Amino acid sequence: MTAKARPVIRALLIDISGTLIIGSTPTPRAVGALAELRRTRLPFRFCSNTSKESTSAIQKRMLDAGFDVQTGESEELWTSLKAARSFIETRGIRRPYFLLSEAAKDECISARRQDPNVPYDAVIVGLAPTHFDYDNLNTAFRILVGEHDSQKQIHEDRKPSIPLIALHKARFIESSGHGLMLGPGPFVAALENATGKEAEVLGKPSKAFFQTVIESLDYEGPNECIAVIGDDIQTDLGGGATDLRLWRILVKTGKYRPGDESRDGMHPPDEVWDSFAGFVDSLLSAHDA
Ligand SMILES: *[C@@H]1O[C@H](CO)[C@@H](O)[C@H](O)[C@H]1NC(C)=O
Ligand SMILES: *[C@@H]1O[C@H](CO)[C@@H](O)[C@H](O)[C@H]1NC(C)=O
Repeated sequence: MTAKARPVIRALLIDISGTLIIGSTPTPRAVGALAELRRTRLPFRFCSNTSKESTSAIQKRMLDAGFDVQTGESEELWTSLKAARSFIETRGIRRPYFLLSEAAKDECISARRQDPNVPYDAVIVGLAPTHFDYDNLNTAFRILVGEHDSQKQIHEDRKPSIPLIALHKARFIESSGHGLMLGPGPFVAALENATGKEAEVLGKPSKAFFQTVIESLDYEGPNECIAVIGDDIQTDLGGGATDLRLWRILVKTGKYRPGDESRDGMHPPDEVWDSFAGFVDSLLSAHDA
């Protein structure tokens, strides 16, 4: 089903959960389709909005399911943690203040990059139940407004604007076994409210997330030639995917429910396929033709 003719696709951003794999089971023929895709040398990236699983845990889950994925430090797999890492590096941030679990923090920044002798220059917030107390939030607030002790030496006129980064802004999350739990969103909102700043969100489907992933592709050309494929019209294909005018493909696996392609308030997808493999077949036959 294609309303507009598909542009020549030069790169592909692929959602993992629900699109390639559901739990530990690949979606129909997905393993073979990914192998075929790799043979064409069309550049692609895997994108996940998880902030629970580390990159290596996701890689292992994909490998165990039979997918041919790179291991170790890989440019292929992008999560909000990896986007945060790239953000820290490209913006030259030297001392972020983290409201983040220890494991997540280690993935965002290598210990040797952090400089304890310089003023704090960013605040990064993710899901961190044990860190969300008055003292820590107040520290984050003081850094954002330039009042922290570490910033005292900076001349008023030279005080930089400190970015507030959120890995995601979920208001609440469903935790396995414990029902609903408060997410990082309300804590980010508290800091936004107190400082009047708006957080930059680095998780899918934010524009900043997709831009970071696209920058890793070494691709120069119109965004319309970059396709993004996923099972969730909102998280995978909404927000930044729509704003950046990527070519948006919805698959009917995973979280998909009939009618998602015409949901109120959502920009309809450019293509709908039964599965990831179905789309890849059609892409490759166009490629070969
Ligand atoms: C990831 O997206 C799903 C919707 O697909 C959403 O329910 C979930 O809260 C998101 N997770 C994060 C960490 O943002
Ligand atoms: C902070 O929250 C209060 C109460 O909802 C609201 O009136 C105010 O406009 C908010 N301020 C900012 C800067 O978001």
